[in-house]
Amino acid sequence: MEREIFVNQLIRWYGHQKRDLPWRETRDPYKIWLSEIILQQTRVNQGMPYYLAFIERYPTVELLAKAPEQEVLRLWQGLGYYSRARNLHACAQTIVEQYHGCFPDTFDELLRLKGIGRYTAAAIASLAFNKPTAVVDGNVYRVLARVFGLYNDISESKTLKIFEQLANELIPTNNAAEYNQAIMDFGATQCTPKNPACDTCPLHTICFAQQHGEVEKLPVKSRK
Ligand code: ADE
Repeated sequence: MEREIFVNQLIRWYGHQKRDLPWRETRDPYKIWLSEIILQQTRVNQGMPYYLAFIERYPTVELLAKAPEQEVLRLWQGLGYYSRARNLHACAQTIVEQYHGCFPDTFDELLRLKGIGRYTAAAIASLAFNKPTAVVDGNVYRVLARVFGLYNDISESKTLKIFEQLANELIPTNNAAEYNQAIMDFGATQCTPKNPACDTCPLHTICFAQQHGEVEKLPVKSRK
């Protein structure tokens, strides 16, 4: 019951508060993949011009695969973590050479590709293919820990499995893309690390942390 309210309220909130982002106007796996690689260690506002520049220069995965690596690295300049750009280029070549230019549509297959970890595989599978694979990152840890009162230490690697399991139980099978984007935005703009907007929160009545005065203590993170 509480879980149902959580999902419904979250998706309803997203309907009113969602951020207009260019990669949300497409279902093209190539564009979604590109946006997720850029956003791995980069904030939305910083990543946006890079996303737009890449899409303009390389509108398809074939064009990215064919580009000289130096050119790709130059376009990446300023984003840092250059291994991301090298993996991006290598992955584009794999997609063209081994997958006939089509991204695979399952979490497990996506996970085998260079530069794609669990978050990115779940994001692509859900946003491009509507598969019910839940994303888990810092934002999701925070929202779930607070709402459901989870005290597992998010510095410990075994905690990821616990949150992934809950998130995959919560994600609606018919609305996976909406759900994942809703929780991303909710964590980024409403349920923030500092000074979360509890006064205007649609989950106020079901949130464990709110009810127990534990908002500042959750999620538990022993190592910074
Ligand atoms: N951070 C990682 N992926 C994102 C996405 N698709 N939209 C907004 N922020 C993100």
